[in-house]
Amino acid sequence: MNSVLSKPALTITPYALSLSSAARAALKSQRPRCLWLTGLSGAGKSTLANALELQLNQQGLHTFVLDGDNLRAGLCRDLGMGTACRRENIRRMAEVARLMVDAGLVVIVAAISPFRAEREAARQLFAEGDFVEVYVSTPLAVCAHRDPKGLYLAAREGRIKDFTGIDSPYEAPLAAECEIDTQTQDIAQACERLSVFLLKN
Ligand code: ADX
Repeated sequence: MNSVLSKPALTITPYALSLSSAARAALKSQRPRCLWLTGLSGAGKSTLANALELQLNQQGLHTFVLDGDNLRAGLCRDLGMGTACRRENIRRMAEVARLMVDAGLVVIVAAISPFRAEREAARQLFAEGDFVEVYVSTPLAVCAHRDPKGLYLAAREGRIKDFTGIDSPYEAPLAAECEIDTQTQDIAQACERLSVFLLKN
């Protein structure tokens, strides 16, 4: 079982809604998709997601950002940083992203999402081409040097446990649709690359 919670015995019958995802998207004149930004803490995922959303909004797209820290303040506030909780965190983010794509939005997810299996499971929720994995590949040494929240220092000093890249693993994507290293590309360049990718694919 995937869940960190005990599973109640339920019998559910999903209701087949009359309005299709395609009809919702058509009203917005856009192709709904999920851009999934994965990478280490401090790699620049949230900054990039934020800037990209602004750019896409200016292009007239209907968007939303699902940021790991933001969801952990609400929907996922019952989850910690151990392996089972991270799996559940990613599962919830993926399911919410899928609902938002069904609603017709271009969704940008920004989460460490350190495990390949969970990212692959997320991909499987979407139609072919509607899940775009973006590896924000800024190296560990650069992220640790930036340390915008002081968390790398806290992890090295043993004040926090299970910190990605220190005492918790990060499994880099093997075949992401895009790779962005914020050490060598500034945010404007990265946004441009991603918006061009969306136009061409
Ligand atoms: S994920 O691994 O489950 O995808 P997510 O992106 O939601 O992680 O949350 C990561 C954020 O939680 C980081 O940006 C950081 O601010 C905070 N955080 C707190 N503790 C940890 C930790 N042990 N490892 C990684 N991030 C942590």
